[in-house]
Amino acid sequence: MTRPLALITGASSGIGTAYARLLAADSDFVLVARRADRLRDLAEELRKDGAEVEVLPADLATREGIAAVAERLGTGDVRVLISNAGVGGYAPLVDVDPARIDDLLTLNAEAHVQLVRAALPGMLAADEGTIVTVASLLAFSAGQTGPRPPRRTLYAAAKAALVAFTRTLGHELAGTGIRTQVVCPGPVATEFHQGIGQTVPVAMTAEDVARASLAGLRLGEAICVPGLEDQSAVLDALLAAESAVLSGGRRSDLASRYRQPLPQ
Ligand SMILES: NC(=O)c1ccc[n+]([C@@H]2O[C@H](COP(=O)([O-])OP(=O)(O)OC[C@H]3O[C@@H](n4cnc5c(N)ncnc54)[C@H](OP(=O)(O)O)[C@@H]3O)[C@@H](O)[C@H]2O)c1
Repeated sequence: MTRPLALITGASSGIGTAYARLLAADSDFVLVARRADRLRDLAEELRKDGAEVEVLPADLATREGIAAVAERLGTGDVRVLISNAGVGGYAPLVDVDPARIDDLLTLNAEAHVQLVRAALPGMLAADEGTIVTVASLLAFSAGQTGPRPPRRTLYAAAKAALVAFTRTLGHELAGTGIRTQVVCPGPVATEFHQGIGQTVPVAMTAEDVARASLAGLRLGEAICVPGLEDQSAVLDALLAAESAVLSGGRRSDLASRYRQPLPQ
């Protein structure tokens, strides 16, 4: 049996490494991240399971890094794309260095779109493919106030864009052999939190997140929230709320509360 080729971004630690280990028995790999030494160590480990592994170091916060990975995807043989690399960069917007905004949005949003775009022609030609993007529960946190969620304007915006992108793409690809899934984990015990100097009291393991995603694919889940028990009822309610906003707002006349005369 041929082994599908899986390209995993952010494979040098955490959730990306966990996907690779879970897929190792029956996949070959292209491993992407900046830390080439880590990727080489993981490649050695995966080869012991019989996998063929390419290591592709790239910085996905840069146009050059994205182009290098897109070029590899453009050869058309990748059947599984796990677009997972990301960083938190949590901070109030006013404290974010303007020069860093581009990096954060490029890595957490644009890179996913570019890599999926690059993977699609090969998958469509084969009428076969799996596209997984790793977003976050914080994609759904814009309305939340209070001390618990971190200061996250850019991160929440990028991950919300990724959720909308992957969900909409899934509908666009209906009727093809390509399945999509966006994964929205809560806190996960990985190096992610070291980067932002935060300790997380309750966290899932990276392995459980990857396991939930792969099980969710088998269940046909286009959205996977690893810790959510009654996912289908909650997502039905979300869809109903979105439909109410869409259908209620799609009118040519103003809502009555805006029809008062403006103060002179
Ligand atoms: N941990 C959580 O609580 C949590 C919760 C929800 C969602 N997530 C999401 O899960 C995904 C994976 O994170 P994780 O928790 O596994 O954290 P992690 O252990 O820090 O892994 C992040 C991965 O992304 C790679 N990466 C970071 N910046 C990169 C860049 N500029 N170019 C290429 N690769 C880069 C890192 O590799 P290099 O440093 O070697 O480049 C690493 O492999 C992220 O998208 C994150 O937003 C995490």
